[in-house]
Amino acid sequence: MKVFQAIEQRRAVKHYQVESEMPAEDFNKIMQAAILSPTSYNIQHWRFIRVTDQAQRYQIKEAAWGQEQITDACELLVLCADVNAWNDRPERYVANSPSATQSILLPMMKAFYEGKEQIQRDEAMRSCGIVAQTIMLAAKSLDYDTCPMVGFDTEEVARLIHLPKGHVIAMMIAIGKAKQAAHPRGGQLSLEEVLSENHF
Ligand SMILES: Cc1cc2nc3c(=O)[nH]c(=O)nc-3n(C[C@H](O)[C@H](O)[C@H](O)COP(=O)(O)O)c2cc1C
Repeated sequence: MKVFQAIEQRRAVKHYQVESEMPAEDFNKIMQAAILSPTSYNIQHWRFIRVTDQAQRYQIKEAAWGQEQITDACELLVLCADVNAWNDRPERYVANSPSATQSILLPMMKAFYEGKEQIQRDEAMRSCGIVAQTIMLAAKSLDYDTCPMVGFDTEEVARLIHLPKGHVIAMMIAIGKAKQAAHPRGGQLSLEEVLSENHF
C-alpha cells in the first residue's frame, strides 16, 4: 500500500474481529518500522508495553470505561516514555556518528534538557505521538486497523503495567482486524483554517 493510501484509509476503528490473530512476522514488521521514527537528538524515549495477558487486558478495559477494542483487537500496546531518557547513557544515541559530532551533540543535548522538566516531558510526549502515527500507518499498510486511546485512567493503567518512576504513559493503541468500519469522518477543519503563511 502506498503511503498516501495508508494515510487516507487509516481510521480510529472501535470494533474488531475477536477471533483474529496477528502473525509474529506482522507484529515485528510494524514495531521495526516504529523504532525508525524520528526523535529529538535521536533520544528514542518510547518504551512499549505489549499486553498479551488477556486477564490484564480486561483489567485495562475496566480502567478505560469498557472500551471494547482493548480486549477485542489482536494487539494492545501501551505507549510509554522515559522522561529521563536524555540523561540515560546518551552516547548510545550518537554511537554511529563521528567522534567530532558526538563531542558537539552530547553537551548540546545536556544543556537543552538539564533542569527543564517541562521540555523533558514535552519531548517524551512528542516522540510518542510520532511513533504512534508510524505504528498506525505501518499497521494500515499491512491491512490492520488501529485505535489510538487516551480514554482511560492513567494511574490505574500505570499500576497495572508497573510503570517505572520517571516514565509517563502517552496513549494506548489497539491493532486488529476491523469487524465494523469507522463512522464517516467527524468533520475535518479546512486547510485554509489551519494553514497560514508566515504568521497567524
Ligand atoms: C491521542 C488520541 C486519543 C484518542 N483516544 C480515544 C479513545 O480513548 N477512544 C476512542 O474510541 N477513540 C480515541 N481516539 C480516536 C479519535 O476519536 C479519532 O482519531 C478522531 O475522532 C479522528 O477520527 P479518525 O482517527 O477515524 O480519523 C483518540 C485519538 C487520539 C489521536
